[in-house]
Amino acid sequence: MEFKKVLIIGGGQMGSGIAHVMAQAGIQVEIRDVSQEVVDKGIASIGKNIDRMIKKGKMTEEEKQTILSRINGGAEWGAADCDVDLAIEAVTENMALKLDIFKKLDELCPERTILATNTSSLPVTAIGAVTNRPEKVVGMHFFSPVYLMRLVEVVKSLATNDETVAAIMKLASDIGKSPVEVSDFPGFVGNRIMVPMMNEAVYTLYEGVADPKTIDDVAVLGFNHPIGPLRLIDAIGLDTILYVMEVLYEGFGDPKYRPCPLLRKYVEAGWLGKKAGRGFYNDYK
Ligand SMILES: NC(=O)c1ccc[n+]([C@@H]2O[C@H](COP(=O)([O-])OP(=O)(O)OC[C@H]3O[C@@H](n4cnc5c(N)ncnc54)[C@H](O)[C@@H]3O)[C@@H](O)[C@H]2O)c1
Repeated sequence: MEFKKVLIIGGGQMGSGIAHVMAQAGIQVEIRDVSQEVVDKGIASIGKNIDRMIKKGKMTEEEKQTILSRINGGAEWGAADCDVDLAIEAVTENMALKLDIFKKLDELCPERTILATNTSSLPVTAIGAVTNRPEKVVGMHFFSPVYLMRLVEVVKSLATNDETVAAIMKLASDIGKSPVEVSDFPGFVGNRIMVPMMNEAVYTLYEGVADPKTIDDVAVLGFNHPIGPLRLIDAIGLDTILYVMEVLYEGFGDPKYRPCPLLRKYVEAGWLGKKAGRGFYNDYK
């Protein structure tokens, strides 16, 4: 299956990143978000990321213009916009919202269109079940920042067929990523490993085992991680990490995934990390 044109619903951090890597691989991209202003902001962020690559000598101004010329966007979408080989949903992590979008995509997209979700935590099987083509619904879980991170978790739901998985695995390789196939269980593989590790780092702080800098130093100096777990939680957002822990805790019904009470307390205080100016560290301007 050839992917010539892709529709992306949700042009925020991830949607714009996905648009970038698709367009860079020669694919025509249409982005739809709640307003033209949000779409423009997403496209501007693609330009800024490419500028970083130009500064490093890894890309040219001409390549930038070619990539941007393949990306269009707007707020409205109807049947004509849905005549694509693949539609990728990258809207806010909210099940009711995603289900609405999948129902609409299923109604408007032709039979050939594969429908993918970039969800980090919601069940792909349940998303596919609201469509009339669950065998063509798949998870395509990119990592942030999309233009730099190589991994894509291709999530096979209970109903996704092998042809769909194979087509998405190939597409991810063709756009320069390293895809892996995983099953549809809470957290898939990446978040199921990483997020409990971060939560455990918060427990070591909560129990007074060490201070934030020492905890992060252990991971950086001892495991060669590029960034410590508490600094990473601050960068991602404490609310997001708490949310993923809750998904794991509820999804598996296993107490080993209980969120650290200190993490919850910080979220209650509004200390959500870098975006709030304060998290486990208080040195953000
Ligand atoms: N941020 C990450 O590190 C990361 C990594 C992997 C996957 N994800 C997943 O990607 C998805 C998007 O996350 P994000 O970080 O890009 O969030 P974001 O807030 O940057 O972007 C979400 C976008 O969805 C748009 N949106 C909301 N309702 C919409 C609607 N009805 N129609 C069209 N657009 C709508 C918002 O305006 C916003 O621009 C989520 O499912 C998230 O779990 C995020």
